[in-house]
Amino acid sequence: YSFGVRILVTGGAGFIGSNFVHLTAATRPEAEIVVLDAFTYAGEPASLAGLGPQVKIVRGDITDAPLVDRLIGASDVVVHFAAETHNDNSLAEPAPFVQTNLVGTYTLLEAVRRHDVRYHHVSTDEVYGDLDLEDPARFTEATPYNPSSPYSATKAGSDLLVRAWVRSFGVRATISNCSNNYGPRQHVEKFIPRQITNILDGGRPKLYGDGLNVRDWIHVDDHNAGVWAIIDRGGIGQTYLIGADGEQSNKAVVEQLLCAMGRDSGDYDHVTDRAGHDRRYAIDSTKLRTELGWAPRYGDFAAGLHATIEWYRANEEWWRPQKAAAEAKYADQAIIGG
Ligand code: NAD
Ligand code: DAU
Repeated sequence: YSFGVRILVTGGAGFIGSNFVHLTAATRPEAEIVVLDAFTYAGEPASLAGLGPQVKIVRGDITDAPLVDRLIGASDVVVHFAAETHNDNSLAEPAPFVQTNLVGTYTLLEAVRRHDVRYHHVSTDEVYGDLDLEDPARFTEATPYNPSSPYSATKAGSDLLVRAWVRSFGVRATISNCSNNYGPRQHVEKFIPRQITNILDGGRPKLYGDGLNVRDWIHVDDHNAGVWAIIDRGGIGQTYLIGADGEQSNKAVVEQLLCAMGRDSGDYDHVTDRAGHDRRYAIDSTKLRTELGWAPRYGDFAAGLHATIEWYRANEEWWRPQKAAAEAKYADQAIIGG
């Protein structure tokens, strides 16, 4: 470590944050981990089960300035995962995205500034907008910001706050922008878990629009290894893109899931498209690979998908309580069709 061992993880009860906590607890026994999480609909206490006294859990909001100040004053590094994260929700109700993603990040930045604490900001490739299917280009650290949805606009705004706090106030921060994650403990509102659990329930996957939209998939553990490489070795003020060359169309993913789960590959529904739906994301992660020596370990998407299917098969008690509410929200938003 270039800093002490007290790590504050915001959003540690969410998908990527909880995998980060498990990975860190398993690989860094000396780390003292504090999770700050509001336990919104997306925060799962069960995702933090089985962790020992190395991990402390604080239920609280990142916009609560006195609480944030106290926790950051007792930390050596902050890893900021907490966010409202689902594009469809941001189209239905943008307000919590502005509050958590912008005001929440601002609240953390003011506290790390006061206490001069190292800060890592977890962000998304969606800040760059989208690419055409035929375009050979991929996103790099130099791609101009061009977000499409309330979600991606608030993430873009939060990134820009970090950059300003680095330049104007000398805050010691790094930023990562990662592509679409998959793996265990992802909320069933998201594309891959939604389709796996639909199939496990004997239902049909729901494909938005023509299904040819492309996402660049990365296993959550590869993302989190990248985050650690940046915390350990990244340059202050630097941005790093994290991606594993995992481009797949949504249609291809659904067909792979159906085949892997013993169903006919055409056994899905096309439903109404998402408003403003980004066409394609693709990451060029050369900087992270060459400067910090990171490389993905989950090279085989099909194998990663199989392991993820098996996780949802074996952990129904984890996802079952989410399922009806998530589908009811889609029915309300009237974008799921059938
Ligand atoms: P998630 O929705 O699964 O979890 C978010 C967590 O943040 C939940 O535990 C929730 O309770 C907590 N939270 C929300 N609002 C809060 C608040 N105001 N105060 C405290 N805690 C709050 O999210 P995820 O998919 O794990 O994403 C984590 C981070 O990674 C986000 O910043 C997201 O933008 C970024 N990211 C996600 C992906 C992806 O594919 N999922 C890709 C790139 C970047
Ligand atoms: O690129 C990183 C981003 O990936 C993260 O910043 C976001 O937090 C994360 O939610 C994810 O955003 P997407 O919008 O790409 O993910 P989502 O799982 O919602 O959808 C993936 C693709 O699948 C997208 O093209 C929409 C489509 N889709 C989604 C659902 C839920 C469907 O076709 N059917 C569905 O039922």
